[in-house]
Amino acid sequence: MAANERVATLTLNRPDALNALNAALLRDLDAAVSRIEDDDDIHVVILTGAGRAFAAGADIGEMLAYNAVEGKKFGAYGNSVFYRLENLNKPVIAAVNGFALGGGCELAMACDIRLASEKAKFGQPEVGLGITPGFGGTQRLPRLIGSPASMELLLTGRVIGAEEALRLGLVNAVYSPDELLAKAAGLAKTIAAQPQVAVRQIKQCVRKGAQVDLSTAIAFEAEAFGVCFSTEDQKDSMAAFLEKRKIDSFKNK
Ligand code: COA
Repeated sequence: MAANERVATLTLNRPDALNALNAALLRDLDAAVSRIEDDDDIHVVILTGAGRAFAAGADIGEMLAYNAVEGKKFGAYGNSVFYRLENLNKPVIAAVNGFALGGGCELAMACDIRLASEKAKFGQPEVGLGITPGFGGTQRLPRLIGSPASMELLLTGRVIGAEEALRLGLVNAVYSPDELLAKAAGLAKTIAAQPQVAVRQIKQCVRKGAQVDLSTAIAFEAEAFGVCFSTEDQKDSMAAFLEKRKIDSFKNK
C-alpha cells in the first residue's frame, strides 16, 4: 500500500499469476482494508493490479480439488472481504489496468467507481469452468448493468473490452494505459479534498439505500443530511458561499 495526499493506492501484486485471487491474496486485501478503515488520514483508496491484469479471477489451481464444503467456505470468505471493501468508510476507485475476469471483475464491481485502461477486459467466465461466479458476480453485475445484459455475460462467459464495458455502464471512463493511474489519482484527489463527513455520509447512503426499500432509504438520507449540519465544514462552507469567499481546505469535522 502506498499513501499520498490522503489517497492510498492498493496494488494486487501477484503478476506471474495475473493477480489470481488465492486465499493468501484475499487475506492481504482484507488486512489492508482494516488498516485503511482505521487510518483517518486516508480519505480515498485506489485499487489496481501489478502487471497486465487487475485480477484474472479466483485461483483456479487452488480451487480445483475443493469439495462442496470447501468451495462454499472459499466463496463466503471472498464475499466477506469484498463486502467489507464495498462498505469501507471511504470511497474506493478501481483502476482496472488489464484483465478483470471472474473474481477480478467481481472485485472491481465491489468498488465505488471503475476507471478502465483501453487494455482492460471484463467478464465472468466461471460458467465455462463449471461453476457460478462465487464472489458476488450474479448479484452485483445485474445491479450495475441490468438483468438482460448480465444474463448474457454470465451465461456465455463472454469477455468484453473496455469500450463495451463503458457502453454497458460497467465502468465510468476509459483511458489510455499510460493515463489510467494519473486519472485515478486526479479523481481521488478531488474527492479527498471534499469535506469528508459529507463524503462518507454520501457513500453510506448510496450503499445502504441500494439494499432497502425507497422509504427506508430516504430515511437514511434524512439522517445523513442531519449529521452534516453538526459539522464545522457545513457552517464554514455555507457562510463562505454567502460571503462570496472561497474555502482553502476543509476541517473534516
Ligand atoms: N487462477 C490461477 N492462475 C491463473 C489464473 C487464475 N484465475 N489466471 C491466470 N493464471 C495464471 C496462468 O495459469 C499462467 O500461469 P503459468 O505462467 O504458471 O502457466 C499465468 O497466470 C499467465 O496466464 P496465461 O493464461 O498464460 O496468460 P494469457 O495471456 O495466455 O491468458 C487469460 C490470459 C486471462 C485470458 C487467461 O489466463 C485466463 O483465461 N485466465 C483464467 C480466467 C478465468 O477463468 N477466471 C475465472 C476464474 S473462477
